[in-house]
Amino acid sequence: MVTISYITAHEALDSRGNPTLQATVALSDGTKASAIVPSGASTGKREALELRDGGNRYGGKGVLDACENVRMTIHDALVHKSPFEQGMIDSILLSLDGTENLERLGANAALGVSMAVARAAASSQKIPLYRYLGGVNALTLPVPMLNIINGGSHADNTVDFQEYMIMPLGFENFREALRASAEVYQALKKKLHALGHITSIGDEGGFAPNLANNKEPIEVILDAIEAAGYKAGTEIAIALDVASSELVSEGGYKLSSENRTLSSDEMISYYAKLVEDYPIVSIEDGLGEDDWEGWKRLTQKLGNKIQLVGDDLFVTNAKILQQGIAQNIANAILIKPNQIGTLSQTLEAVALAKRAGYRCVMSHRSGESEDTFIADLAVALNTGEIKTGSTARSERIAKYNRLLEIERELERGRYLGAQLFV
Ligand code: PGA
Ligand code: ZN
Repeated sequence: MVTISYITAHEALDSRGNPTLQATVALSDGTKASAIVPSGASTGKREALELRDGGNRYGGKGVLDACENVRMTIHDALVHKSPFEQGMIDSILLSLDGTENLERLGANAALGVSMAVARAAASSQKIPLYRYLGGVNALTLPVPMLNIINGGSHADNTVDFQEYMIMPLGFENFREALRASAEVYQALKKKLHALGHITSIGDEGGFAPNLANNKEPIEVILDAIEAAGYKAGTEIAIALDVASSELVSEGGYKLSSENRTLSSDEMISYYAKLVEDYPIVSIEDGLGEDDWEGWKRLTQKLGNKIQLVGDDLFVTNAKILQQGIAQNIANAILIKPNQIGTLSQTLEAVALAKRAGYRCVMSHRSGESEDTFIADLAVALNTGEIKTGSTARSERIAKYNRLLEIERELERGRYLGAQLFV
């Protein structure tokens, strides 16, 4: 019987140059696998705890304590256990910690191990990770949401909304969808350049120009779609992540670039107008994580027109999602494994969302690495959508390249494209 022979962890660097945890699991059959945990900047306040050392090293962001927790407590509890029982592995991690938000061991310690165990198990069985996690039904290449203009806390520019994304809907397969997106990205660079804007990029590889207000990025992107030879709306649609919990100020939502503060209802009207004027199919975190009353009205107003995604709102937490479902809040959930801390809890959130008819968007974090786990996870769970940055920066591209590879491997792979919203 194959068992876990040891587990260890070390510090690695993420895409912002901050330390993060890399866990390694070795099995008795000689298999070895690692996983690197990502890290957010605009984190939801109900996310599981990311354990940081404090002190002087790395400006307090070191993760040596979390690594130590892996090497001692977690190693001792999981050594000689079966790597093929992910549910058992994850419940041991949760009970070892004993707190609701993994405050003792750290969600970074737990998730690193949880992912590395799954990867080692897949590798030991000599099957791809998506097949191991999803079985024979892992077939759907996700529609990407590519964040091509970055604002908010992911860039030092004037734009308040965090992410302006394109969604390639009118394509037969993932590779053509990705090609079109990459072409739009290049056309956007030219466009911004011609308009005299800077074309330096933000944390997720999107451009970070100083534009006059929060609508202008949409206008420029629409021009770029056209310049690249595609039809805005039918072929390539727009998605936004407002990350509005970050905008909350003095009881409203502060739009610094427009020099005004809006109430929840004013934000809702603002979105209703945007949706009327532009081919927007999805808005994430349109209202703040504590504004559940506003969310109810937002969902009533726009929930049957577009996708409304809860990120900071639900933090990949099945319990919180359950409350949202009960109150008819949002109609989709962003899935970020490190918000909740183990793979099994991530699967639980996806399963609950699907039962309730909520869509799922697999997601990276703004601080990422070369680890491509979420690409396999998106295919395994048939989420149908993935958000993993623009077509720049290798930590983003790594996920797209992994999806291209999966598409080549899958004989009956499917890309939903526009059917996603049918
Ligand atoms: P984060 O941003 O990883 O900084 O939280 C991503 C998002 O808000 O979706
Ligand atoms: Zn978000």
